Amino acid sequence: MSVPRLSRARSASGTVYPAVLSAMSSSAFSEFSDLRSREDNPREHLPVLRDEALGALNLLPDGCYLDATFGRGGYSRGILSALGERGRLLAFDRDPAAIRAGQILAADPRFFLLHQSFSELTAGAQRAGFLREAAEPGFGVFDGVVFDLGVSSPQLEEGERGFSFRHDGPLDMRMDTTRGETAREWLARADLNDITEVLKNYGDERFARGIAQKIVAVRAERPLVRTGQLAALVRSVVRRREPGQDSATRAFQGIRIHINQELQEIERALPQALTLLKPGGRLVVVAFHSLEDRIVKNFMRRAARPEMEIPSRLPLFARDLPKPSLRILGKAQRPTGAEIAVNPRARSAVLRAAEKLAESGSGA
Ligand SMILES: C[S@@+](CC[C@H](N)C(=O)[O-])C[C@H]1O[C@@H](n2cnc3c(N)ncnc32)[C@H](O)[C@@H]1O
Repeated sequence: MSVPRLSRARSASGTVYPAVLSAMSSSAFSEFSDLRSREDNPREHLPVLRDEALGALNLLPDGCYLDATFGRGGYSRGILSALGERGRLLAFDRDPAAIRAGQILAADPRFFLLHQSFSELTAGAQRAGFLREAAEPGFGVFDGVVFDLGVSSPQLEEGERGFSFRHDGPLDMRMDTTRGETAREWLARADLNDITEVLKNYGDERFARGIAQKIVAVRAERPLVRTGQLAALVRSVVRRREPGQDSATRAFQGIRIHINQELQEIERALPQALTLLKPGGRLVVVAFHSLEDRIVKNFMRRAARPEMEIPSRLPLFARDLPKPSLRILGKAQRPTGAEIAVNPRARSAVLRAAEKLAESGSGA
């Protein structure tokens, strides 16, 4: 196996942190026995579908892996505990707080953590030195790539991050606090139609127009700067509450997805992940809502059955049909009732896994 040799490196847009896990138990990749209940500490991130994701990666001791969403390292720890001395793990997160939390693994020479959006997956792997020893330019280097999409519990629970309708804080909502427009800035400048579209398309909010109208009316009087202000505004418009759900949930989800360009990030990342997988390598994705999952499902289906994209009336021989580049592994997996009881945030999670085929035309 070609194992990239990496050195500590700093880059313009991020920092690479080699690190070790010597003290980490080799049985960390085990059942959820180590999980406390969500109520113990809501800010702690309890990894969702971790054992299923690690199982789907088919971890090889000498393998080279990418955890595209480090979070608080639940998946990364599991991967490291299954790797031998020659194994390698690269991890990304766009949130500087996740990168700071990852310092706890900073002594493990097999581990490299990069402040990086996964939409720039190839550039990140290049910067971390993982592409240097590929068999040939553009050839796959990873035995597995895993995405655990969405937000982490610390992001949701810390009012200061501005994601929460329950804890008042500045209207920020950026995962990457070093760049980009905040929710406050966007809500101050977006027009009525744009706000309506975001709430409708990304939040599936039935009262999108009414909320947008109220935002435009209120901001003419005073700036919207706090999550508490926005939550109260939304609740005053959304009168019909869905059972077990705060009326502000959908609007906050919509704005958050827009601010972080979450769907565009996934669209851009998946083809790069496929290209950088070795033949036989695994692509594993955990999604938390149907918008994310639809992108993942369609991507895997298209890669597994590229002939479906060709109009059926075209006179093509079988040999001329495009070759599949992925094999879908089983059905989508969902958390068990036991996991949801421990961690209610897991309830909407869906895991999909696929394996890269040897004869794929993906350029790997
Ligand atoms: C659900 S958490 C991952 C949790 C992780 N699997 C664990 O067990 O601790 C999602 C993480 O992905 C990060 N993230 C979301 N979108 C990203 C993107 N486009 N690029 C890089 N990181 C992203 C978030 O900042 C967050 O920390």
